[in-house]
Amino acid sequence: MPTTSAVSEASTSASAVDALPSSHPLRDGRTSGSALLAAYRGSRPEVRPVWFMRQAGRSLPEYRRVRAGTGMLEACLTPDLATEITLQPVRRHGVDAAILFSDIVVPLRLAGIGVQIVAGTGPVVDRPVRSAADVAALPPLDPAALAPITRAAADTAAALGSTPLIGFAGAPFTLASYLVEGGPSREHLRTRALMHSDPQTWHALASWVADVTSAFLRAQVLAGASALQLFDSWAGALSLADYTTFVAPHSAWVLARVADLGVPRVHFGVGTGELLASMRDAGADVMGIDHRVGLDVANARLGGTTPLQGNIDAALLFAGTKALHAHAADVIRRGSTAPGHVVNLGHGVPPDTDPDVLTELVEFVHGCP
Ligand code: CP3
Repeated sequence: MPTTSAVSEASTSASAVDALPSSHPLRDGRTSGSALLAAYRGSRPEVRPVWFMRQAGRSLPEYRRVRAGTGMLEACLTPDLATEITLQPVRRHGVDAAILFSDIVVPLRLAGIGVQIVAGTGPVVDRPVRSAADVAALPPLDPAALAPITRAAADTAAALGSTPLIGFAGAPFTLASYLVEGGPSREHLRTRALMHSDPQTWHALASWVADVTSAFLRAQVLAGASALQLFDSWAGALSLADYTTFVAPHSAWVLARVADLGVPRVHFGVGTGELLASMRDAGADVMGIDHRVGLDVANARLGGTTPLQGNIDAALLFAGTKALHAHAADVIRRGSTAPGHVVNLGHGVPPDTDPDVLTELVEFVHGCP
């Protein structure tokens, strides 16, 4: 496992895109002039880029139509359907990026773990992983199993033209917590207890997850994604000390495994205001910020050197146009202190969001000076 300093040495260089296939959108130039990539690289494009976490999904009637009768993970593993769903929010809202329709637990399923996504609940694991023997029995991921993901990412990138596709994966802590808890959890008590009761088993589990999730991420980038995001959604449950000791080295390993590809790496978590510098130092080029910390404050905590993504409070999507647009203008003003800013929500689009509110928000952001 590399140390954090080894990771920063391996950070992206200008020629790193040479590691991508010659037909890749960043290699042949289709996405290299995009506003998203410019902002992720720390410059200020003419129009401020915006996309939304969970922009594909239940808020869109066209999504509900094509998903009817198909399970969530089955939809993720059907390339034509995943491609169509990924493109829907780009067509409807005019956002500046697509994010591949998939899920953080997809690589677990592809490795052979019994995991379902239960509507309204989230991922549920048939047999939780809690002991050294459970971890030793975890199967390796056969790279050939990633074929449906590669197909979906390649077809989507081809259909998107100059709009970049973002690839993503779950970070080791967030994914391991589903395996240990067996399903969604508020406090992640079993997972955090395991770190301290049996650190060796914890590290073995986190290493297995890091392997599987980084293979999933790398496959998406090689197939056509021009940027990537590592979701450590639940890392906000951790103290800085536990994050640094038990989690950061594994997330750093994932980010290092895609460093040679030269695409911007975004790192995001919820309630992670205390962890921002440590998450950045794990090897992120851009930090995703939730709604709890103003972007000007986040920028100061990060020393003013890291482009930011975020952080419109999703609650404001339900507060009327006037309040929403005033809030978005404030987010943009605070974001202007950072070296680059990609507008997003502080977390995912709630399923009951009125899609017209999102379309108008994109127009508003694009119209801001
Ligand atoms: O548009 C996008 O952002 C791309 C698609 C995407 C999904 N999941 C699709 C999805 C992404 C990036 C994810 C990542 C994901 N999945 C995360 C990290 C992001 C975050 O929100 O913090 C996490 C923690 C998961 C695990 C997960 N999967 C949860 C908690 C849920 C919600 C369960 C529910 O029904 O409320 C899912 C299911 C899921 N993933 C849905 C979608 C569109 C909803 C299922 C459906 O439409 O049937």
